[in-house]
Amino acid sequence: RKRTAVLISGRGSNMGALISAAMAPSYPAEITLVISNRPDAKGLERAAEFGIATAVVDHKDFAGDRQAFEKAIDDVLKEHRIDLVALAGFMRILTPYLVNAWSGRMINIHPALLPSFKGLATHERALEEGVKLHGATVHFVSAEMDDGPIIVQGAVPVLDHDTPDTLAARVLDVEHKIYPKALELVATGKTKVTGARVVTGAENNNSAELI
Ligand code: GAR
Repeated sequence: RKRTAVLISGRGSNMGALISAAMAPSYPAEITLVISNRPDAKGLERAAEFGIATAVVDHKDFAGDRQAFEKAIDDVLKEHRIDLVALAGFMRILTPYLVNAWSGRMINIHPALLPSFKGLATHERALEEGVKLHGATVHFVSAEMDDGPIIVQGAVPVLDHDTPDTLAARVLDVEHKIYPKALELVATGKTKVTGARVVTGAENNNSAELI
């Protein structure tokens, strides 16, 4: 089982979905560490309740020195002999320093169907643009924000009465399905990356989730 760290900044519902999936003994990854850049992140308490080691690396302690912040994260990851890193609502942009060190071993979930709606306020922007399908993406992390080879996507309909909140809730449900699926594909070594494309060799396409 691949020793996996989850990096969070807030409530940690995706972290919870990964922890639940990893409770099955047959799941190829175990969550052995949760790191937050915010000491008050709700997800930290939740992780501790599951008996998972937690660490806080507060970006405010590094006075804008991004590399020192990232080195501190890297040190904790190494201390815990981590194999894979899953960013789950981790709201700091990482520099090539950490991204390159973990290339092919660090994944992220983004609340939109990339490459549409990179960045923040994805649900507001999806409604403004009038798209009829929206969703979430799990991808390998590359040096560019919300970029990198796509592992799994989940799509949801946009409904007439949607507000950013109702749409966010529908997308969050699909996030909780696709993140465990993506981590499983990566942890079993099934993901082969060619350029921007990830193939898994599965006979049936297991990389799209439609709600
Ligand atoms: C999730 O919707 C995740 O996709 C998003 O933050 C939320 C975290 O929720 N991530 C980003 O916006 C990354 N830029 P959670 O803490 O309950 O998992």
